[in-house]
Amino acid sequence: MQTIDEQLQDRRTAARSGGGQARVDKHHAKGKLTARERLDALLDENSFKESDMFVEHRCVDFGMQTQKIPGDGVVTGWGTINGRLVFVFSQDFTVFGGSLSEAHAEKICKVMDQAMKAGAPLIGLNDSGGARIQEGVASLGGYAEVFQRNVLASGVIPQISMIMGPCAGGAVYSPAMTDFIFMVRDSSYMFVTGPEVVKTVTHEEVTHEELGGADTHAMTSGVCDIAFENELEALQQLRDFYDFLPLSNREKPPVRPTSDSMHRRDTSLDTLVPDNPNQPYDMKELVHKIVDDSHFFELQPDYAKNIVIGMARMNGSTVGIVANQPLILAGCLDIKSSIKAARFVRFCDAFNIPIITLVDVPGFLPGTAQEYGGIIKHGAKLLFAYAECTVPKITVITRKAYGGAYDVMASKHLRGDVNLAWPNAEIAVMGAKGAVEIIFRNDIGDAEKIEKRTEEYREKFANPFIAASRGYIDDVIKPSGTRQHICKSLAMLASKELENPWRKHDNLPL
Ligand code: HXC
Repeated sequence: MQTIDEQLQDRRTAARSGGGQARVDKHHAKGKLTARERLDALLDENSFKESDMFVEHRCVDFGMQTQKIPGDGVVTGWGTINGRLVFVFSQDFTVFGGSLSEAHAEKICKVMDQAMKAGAPLIGLNDSGGARIQEGVASLGGYAEVFQRNVLASGVIPQISMIMGPCAGGAVYSPAMTDFIFMVRDSSYMFVTGPEVVKTVTHEEVTHEELGGADTHAMTSGVCDIAFENELEALQQLRDFYDFLPLSNREKPPVRPTSDSMHRRDTSLDTLVPDNPNQPYDMKELVHKIVDDSHFFELQPDYAKNIVIGMARMNGSTVGIVANQPLILAGCLDIKSSIKAARFVRFCDAFNIPIITLVDVPGFLPGTAQEYGGIIKHGAKLLFAYAECTVPKITVITRKAYGGAYDVMASKHLRGDVNLAWPNAEIAVMGAKGAVEIIFRNDIGDAEKIEKRTEEYREKFANPFIAASRGYIDDVIKPSGTRQHICKSLAMLASKELENPWRKHDNLPL
């Protein structure tokens, strides 16, 4: 007779061995870690507390009553990352392909509910063949229960999805409703319908990787925030990223003290912007030179590169960075960049993360592709996001701030708290040449006259002082002192309070 202790040990061993050694070996052979190995890499050592390891499915069809594996294909519980609480689920592909049964879904829902009650983020490590085919509608119901919780948790606790295997059909919509999606190159994919269905319906021939691999979603669709080289790198980077985030919307992000002085000046910034206004420069150089220890965690680095977004710290505190990138499309706003930045601004606002906006924008991208694609509606998303945002907003105009894009990029009029400009900033309705060709249309044949008018316009508007004379710019600063100005402004704004009027919810132009 086994003692109860021995029985418990046996049951735990059975649960920990997942779908059995043969399946684990097959999984490893693909270069993948098991669900538990992934949790070991993600969480602090010995911090994981597992729950529901004895849960089994209740399916009795297709011989399933004889195939029960404790845990039912998902490992759930909580642990810590750098000492801070996090709730997790990690799907086990070695158990029924990580497919989602009713019981599997209940386990995920339980940790989601706990995460909401405790006020701590949820990280999902996804590796699943989708709905458990033997269970039919019970599995679909399980997905919908997860979806409902994703929505209720949105803006309350950060939710992060790491895709580490297949993710297909309606199953993609849970990650899609979380705040961030990370993927692993060559081993994860996401699509609503797979290559076979695509071939039947549209006659397109496409591989899994081309249709929904990490690079596709990181570069083309924008669904994925970062594509990592391998699983270990992905999980290590996720630990780093987690450190930027608050536990919930009721808390501030953690402060990580640094030896990088807030008073540090960088004289190389005084020559960052070229004299020729049409010559580009790399805005990321400015970002790296002003943030703590040059540490910038960029999100969506390969999508809509004309705008740069990501997390960094200033004097130890997390900030969200939004910056036009003059290297790509001259830094103008278009559909993709507006949506990319708008979603990021809304995340920062929901989670008490101040926003630093670095502006060098010649306007919105002209053309039929943009107009037919709905730039009016999509550009409005970024405008809307900045305007409703109540966290501290600090804006630095490094060069151009033209037209509607000047208004959009966290201008004073959208409740920018501290709006700064570098001495050579140009704040105008448009560039000098374009402006003159409109207001002096009759002189267009006379090159000398046009040149003179252009010079006049440039002299009048190609500087920050008209905006400063109206108080739209709080100060004109030397580029080398930018870090110091931002850090001091953040300290001043640490206790900022601002609320929008009560409403059920806003009606963001979707
Ligand atoms: C039950 C599944 C399963 C599933 C895989 N398995 N998917 N069991 N339900 N959905 C099982 C397999 O039978 C196999 O069991 C084991 O998992 C590993 O699968 P393999 O096929 O051997 O692995 P691989 O070759 O790597 O292929 C992985 C795969 C493929 C591409 C995911 O298994 C596959 O195409 N599965 C079906 C995917 C699918 O159509 N799902 C439904 C999508 S619709 P053994 O015992 O041999 O190890 C959906 C709707 C959600 O999800 C809607 C939400 C609203």
